[in-house]
Amino acid sequence: MKLFIAGHNGMVGGALVRRFQREPGVTLLLRTRRELDLTNQAAVAAFYAAEKPDGAIIAAAKVGGILANNTYPAEFLFENLAIASNTIHGAYAAGVPRLLFLGSSCIYPKLAPQPMPESSLLTGPLEPTNEAYAIAKIAGLKLCEYYRKQHGVVYHSAMPTNLYGPGDYYNLERSHVMPALLRKFHEAKAASRPEVGAWGTGSPKREFLHVDELADACAFLLKMDNPPDLVNVGTGTDVTIRELTEIVAQVVGFKGRIVWDATKPDGTPRKLMDVSRLTALGWQARIGLRAGVEATYASFLAEQAAGTLRG
Ligand SMILES: NC(=O)c1ccc[n+]([C@@H]2O[C@H](COP(=O)([O-])OP(=O)(O)OC[C@H]3O[C@@H](n4cnc5c(N)ncnc54)[C@H](OP(=O)(O)O)[C@@H]3O)[C@@H](O)[C@H]2O)c1
Repeated sequence: MKLFIAGHNGMVGGALVRRFQREPGVTLLLRTRRELDLTNQAAVAAFYAAEKPDGAIIAAAKVGGILANNTYPAEFLFENLAIASNTIHGAYAAGVPRLLFLGSSCIYPKLAPQPMPESSLLTGPLEPTNEAYAIAKIAGLKLCEYYRKQHGVVYHSAMPTNLYGPGDYYNLERSHVMPALLRKFHEAKAASRPEVGAWGTGSPKREFLHVDELADACAFLLKMDNPPDLVNVGTGTDVTIRELTEIVAQVVGFKGRIVWDATKPDGTPRKLMDVSRLTALGWQARIGLRAGVEATYASFLAEQAAGTLRG
């Protein structure tokens, strides 16, 4: 199988490359953004026509934190819509039989039931701060669903929960909670600081999946003859931010105090994926949170030593 991984330099794309390099009979087709700008419809069409891959995984997206999403909603909507429509329609036009599109848990309504089932899609308003990104992702998953329904191509989508692992962003302005904590505790330990400040009360609950597990779930879904149109990928369990913070501090070896600033907002109390659909199909996450954080800290140190740390 000649498999195109769009966005292979990203955190998810990197994990997909590691996973599919181990898969017998798979040849990877990779292009950097400089070689192929996925917002360029003609370039993407020409690429598919020339290479004729047997399958594609779309892990490229314009990704950012709340501030970037809120400040540049036009770019987030336009670029992500363009990436989705060019990669999905381009694949169909070139006769690519198989495609897996990656979305995100933010496609579900702000007030979706917890844990969030796939059936909660389009049942209520989205979280306003990432509405633009979510609408582009919803358009992408609907494109897959409709091309499959109308044309019989097996195009489908996976919605991962919060991810962590090698290749994450450690820039504090755009990073997610896990890499931000790793970096904070690492720097506090190096500077022998007696305490580290933490945001809010620590009571909100969140779910975290090691990115290598997402890649494994993608391989599992690609091997299915008749995968579901949409499936959540997560661990099915959540932890409080306080528990996560304590695990990260222990793994890094920070011995000082953690001081919670309850005057800062906590955000949504709980965000957890309902993973019963994927579990029923036969896939389950295996990496426990502590083991995952240990592996991620080891890769943080290795990336720092090699000068490849992002952000
Ligand atoms: N990280 C998470 O916690 C998480 C959780 C749920 C879902 N996801 C989903 O997983 C997917 C990948 O996320 P990620 O965390 O791996 O993000 P990432 O590390 O920022 O990777 C995104 C990749 O897409 C590439 N890209 C962006 N625009 C492009 C364009 N116009 N042409 C070609 N390539 C382009 C980027 O290229 P450059 O390297 O040149 O910038 C980058 O390599 C996204 O759909 C995201 O919604 C991520």
